[in-house]
Amino acid sequence: MADNKLWGGRFAAKTAQSVEDYTESVSYDQNLYREDISGSQAHATMLAEQGVLTAEEAETLVKGLDQVLEEIESGKFEWKKEMEDLHMNIESRLTEIVGPVGGKLHTGRSRNDQVATDFRLHVLRSLEAWKTALEKLIASFTAKADQNREVLLPGYTHLQPAQPVSLAHHMLAYAWMFKRDHSRVVDCINRANVCPLGAAALAGTTYPLKPETSAKHLGMTETFRNSLDAVSDRDFVMEAMFTGSLVMTHLSRICEELIIWANPCFGFIKLPDEFSTGSSIMPQKKNPDVCELMRGKTGRVFGDLISLLTTCKGLPLAYNRDMQEDKEPFFDCDKTVHASVVIMADMMDAMGFNPENMEAALKKGFLNATELADYLVGKGIPFREAHHITGSAVAKAEAESRGLEDMSLEELQTFSDKIEEDVFEVLSYEAAVKRRVSPGSTGPESVDAQISELQGWLAS
Ligand code: ARG
Repeated sequence: MADNKLWGGRFAAKTAQSVEDYTESVSYDQNLYREDISGSQAHATMLAEQGVLTAEEAETLVKGLDQVLEEIESGKFEWKKEMEDLHMNIESRLTEIVGPVGGKLHTGRSRNDQVATDFRLHVLRSLEAWKTALEKLIASFTAKADQNREVLLPGYTHLQPAQPVSLAHHMLAYAWMFKRDHSRVVDCINRANVCPLGAAALAGTTYPLKPETSAKHLGMTETFRNSLDAVSDRDFVMEAMFTGSLVMTHLSRICEELIIWANPCFGFIKLPDEFSTGSSIMPQKKNPDVCELMRGKTGRVFGDLISLLTTCKGLPLAYNRDMQEDKEPFFDCDKTVHASVVIMADMMDAMGFNPENMEAALKKGFLNATELADYLVGKGIPFREAHHITGSAVAKAEAESRGLEDMSLEELQTFSDKIEEDVFEVLSYEAAVKRRVSPGSTGPESVDAQISELQGWLAS
């Protein structure tokens, strides 16, 4: 053996240093040490239950692996690059601890089913953390909705003022997006929860292994049906990264809105000090850097997803070393998505709103113009004509920097003699929102129902 590699048997010359550096994964896959150790313990226990190992051998292996775990967690473990990946680092240290029986751990197993198991367990753990963080995020948005049922602001289309909506309704729109993200995370968890142990290198093995037992020991709900698929499948990673990409897309949209709302031209929000930064040269500045970075980091999460999709698209069955490139994009995606969700929830909790500025924007944007047109239709005027009459009234009010509601009845009647005293009820923004009675609308009944439904879901 030219080298001390676990696979060194058929090699005469040592691996080149550059190749060792190029191919190693231990510098980042050591992240998976907990999953690797529990996977090995489950495998050893199953081997004993199937009579492939003796009970004492399995016990020695399990205890030795506990010691390895302890060494890693206390920082005593020495990770060696020449051992290539975490699997071989751990197995070789185990063999130092327990002696030759360590060599029996890999019976009926390959690094191909081993790494697939480790990574599934790892992705599952991350998805559970995303799920919890999303619940907190949905709770933050629902709480803001609950506290701001009466606050009105312009709803926009084309980023032009369109119709008044309640701030509660706006916050709830995001709560529903994040709730769908949450259900996608749950779907990902269900599909990732399959144990590949027992698929071995690609074709299964000649030992009488029992995949159900390994899965049970790992708390995994399903076993694989096809060994080639079990070692080749990385859809669970790509699916998780797609779900993370959608979470980031939703976060990026609220970030964009918060950036706009923080601009003094809008002045709709008071960015909490803890979530903004200043400028080193312009003393007046308070910058929405957290929102900008979150919007920016959305791009890198998309990149993580696209990189693995591209890596996998041309791979023949079964395992190919290309697949080692699945880990770093996921780690990056996981770190970014989780931190972004947590920070958005905290930022929302601390967010202050300026209802006066929102109201001023309603006036400036003539957000009651549709109401006036609908009012005229109610008085028997065809919609097209009502639209035209309202347009003329808006033009006059705009020229005088007033709102429609600031005109006197006599002034309004110069546009149509169908206008009567009751028009002022219609021109009130509060009334416009209150009159929205359709299900899912911004009207108070719908908003109450949305808040109750989300609160009920969060409580269960
Ligand atoms: N480091 C490898 C990976 O992450 C582990 C599996 C290696 N398997 C092999 N046959 N070389 O994919």
